[in-house]
Amino acid sequence: MSPSAGTLRVAVLAGGRSSEHEVSLSSAAAVRDGLIEAGHETVWVELARDGSWCVDGRPIDVTPGGGLLDADVVFGALHGPFGEDGSVQGLLEMLDVPYVGAGVPASAVCIDKVLFKRLMATAGMPQVAYVGLSAERWQAHPDAALAEIESLGLPVFVKPAHLGSSVGISKASSAQELRRAIGSAFEYDELVIVEAASTGLEVECGVLGVLGSERAQAFASEPGEITFASEFYDYDAKYAPEGMGLLVPARISPAAREQVMALALATFELVRCDGLARVDFFVEGEEVLVNELNTMPGFTPTSVYAKLLDASGVGYTELVDRLCRLALARHRELAGYRR
Ligand SMILES: Nc1ncnc2c1ncn2[C@@H]1O[C@H](COP(=O)(O)OP(=O)(O)O)[C@@H](O)[C@H]1O
Ligand SMILES: [Mg+2]
Repeated sequence: MSPSAGTLRVAVLAGGRSSEHEVSLSSAAAVRDGLIEAGHETVWVELARDGSWCVDGRPIDVTPGGGLLDADVVFGALHGPFGEDGSVQGLLEMLDVPYVGAGVPASAVCIDKVLFKRLMATAGMPQVAYVGLSAERWQAHPDAALAEIESLGLPVFVKPAHLGSSVGISKASSAQELRRAIGSAFEYDELVIVEAASTGLEVECGVLGVLGSERAQAFASEPGEITFASEFYDYDAKYAPEGMGLLVPARISPAAREQVMALALATFELVRCDGLARVDFFVEGEEVLVNELNTMPGFTPTSVYAKLLDASGVGYTELVDRLCRLALARHRELAGYRR
């Protein structure tokens, strides 16, 4: 496709400070290629692990209200803390530049597995039982915490509250494993979540915002089923070659499929997400439980999100283009309010 009047200058943010730095580099490189394919101009902004932002190896300066590198829109292909958690989104708000995806509150809520589950509970959304555990509580009242966790039964999943890519997650099947799992999750985070284990299939659904409609309105993709040989969908399963498979459509009943798609949209709206999301589920027969909403899922053409959208008729080039247009539309819309 050749550049046209609709050509945008897009700053692609890559890397970042989280443990998902490398994953982000892959997502961002694919986004850049897709944007070029769509006829846009790109600026590669590399966010180093130390927090600096560089273009062509040189650190950049930013000024509040001054935009970012003359970009029309920013595509932050960043995963995890300091990227997908509202912090970069807040900075981009202060620079007053349109950016792809969720804003500050949705990003912040969805990166926090405890806050997310609490919000879901207020709306009666189906999910596993859980216990949120702060480092202070674990230190001050471990026995009371363990008594509460006992009500979840065994096995349980123990996770750092703010990470992704399964980093720091373990499955515990005994009291001894539980203590070890909690200790290891606290190496990553000051907040840990312990969850009852679901035995369901893992099913994921992509959500894409719809231009020209209400902000929160969106489209749900065909759900896909994740397959893996490991005990759960851990880091290696996610990133090792052949570690996982994706079945589209998922091997679930028509009613469960409808339910997954409806809950994906309901979750997207409940957290007031924007642009895109991948909503992940456990499907136990006819029962569908929401696991999490990722505001910036892995984003290469072979990532689950892109494959689900592709299976639903939106190819990768069109996808990255539409996300930029949605970002521009949202920025214009929000600029119209007297705040
Ligand atoms: N409550 C649970 N029941 C069963 N499996 C779980 C549960 N929580 C997590 N898992 C397993 O761990 C994986 C990663 O957990 P998840 O909450 O999705 O964290 P991440 O944000 O790192 O992807 C899931 O895809 C699933 O395989
Ligand atoms: Mg997950």
